[in-house]
Amino acid sequence: MRKVRKAVFPVAGLGTRFLPATKAIPKEMLTVVDKPVIQYVVDEAREAGIEHFIFVTGRNKTVIEDHFDVQVELYDTLAQRGKDDQLARLQRMQPAPGQTSFTRQQVPLGLGHAVWCARDLVGNEPFALLLPDMIMQSEVGCMKEMVELYEQTGSNIIAVQECAPEEAHKYGIVGRGEDRHSGFQITDMVEKPKPGTAPSNLFINGRYILQPEIFDILQHQEKGAGGEIQLTDAMLKLRKSQPFYGYHYTGRTFDCGSPEGFVEANVAFALWRPDMHAQVAHVIERMVADLKPVERRRSRR
Ligand code: UTP
Repeated sequence: MRKVRKAVFPVAGLGTRFLPATKAIPKEMLTVVDKPVIQYVVDEAREAGIEHFIFVTGRNKTVIEDHFDVQVELYDTLAQRGKDDQLARLQRMQPAPGQTSFTRQQVPLGLGHAVWCARDLVGNEPFALLLPDMIMQSEVGCMKEMVELYEQTGSNIIAVQECAPEEAHKYGIVGRGEDRHSGFQITDMVEKPKPGTAPSNLFINGRYILQPEIFDILQHQEKGAGGEIQLTDAMLKLRKSQPFYGYHYTGRTFDCGSPEGFVEANVAFALWRPDMHAQVAHVIERMVADLKPVERRRSRR
């Protein structure tokens, strides 16, 4: 069985839900506590054993490439000032030379098109796909668990989580078949089903392991929902010839592409940090206790 060695990170979206913050700064570089969102996702891929990180970028995204480069002057200055912990932390996050590749989508025609842009960099092998605006929190990373399921099945894997049934129309939803290994067979996939028609309440949370045959399908994939080339449409075609398994992730997922999800992620990751937990929890408790007077102030305006 071929190992999953490469991961694709599509970072060419315009981030319109997060304007004006994303007018000049890519949403992937907004910080959750003290790390850019993209670093969380790359760390998750590295924990899963990924050796090569492929970024599909667009205009105004060059700062992402700079972030993963060595900053020689900064590293020297930290060393001279004896800030060894900070230097070691930066070095741990740093991909080794030759471990990153960047290609441009040129025109944001949709997620399916962004993935297709990575075809030559991936080549003829299975690959991980991580949507960088979704970040996750659990003791063991979502992608690491997915790679374990891949090693049992050798197939395509999609991570899913439960949503409230009335929220299903907002997501890509899968149909649940028989349990197999540490996952289950996927019987259907629907992008944003009409209310009341979803095959389950299991939504696709932005983590995939895909076989390279998806690229041939994407090459001819026509525009779908929203006038974009949709990955889900291509996966549905691939499912006719290859099995898809679902991995039920039970950790927390935050949609950092929306201001609400981003704020939630900042609170959750600050509370998760042993060095910050007590202070942040205290501040939140105090703010919640003060909330009523704030509401009164607002209603007086
Ligand atoms: P989203 O639809 O969440 O991202 O795409 P977006 O288009 O940036 O968001 P809004 O709706 O305008 O706020 C999911 C992922 O696919 C990437 C995005 O960068 C994001 O990581 N994507 C989407 C591309 O790389 N290219 C595209 O053409 C579309």
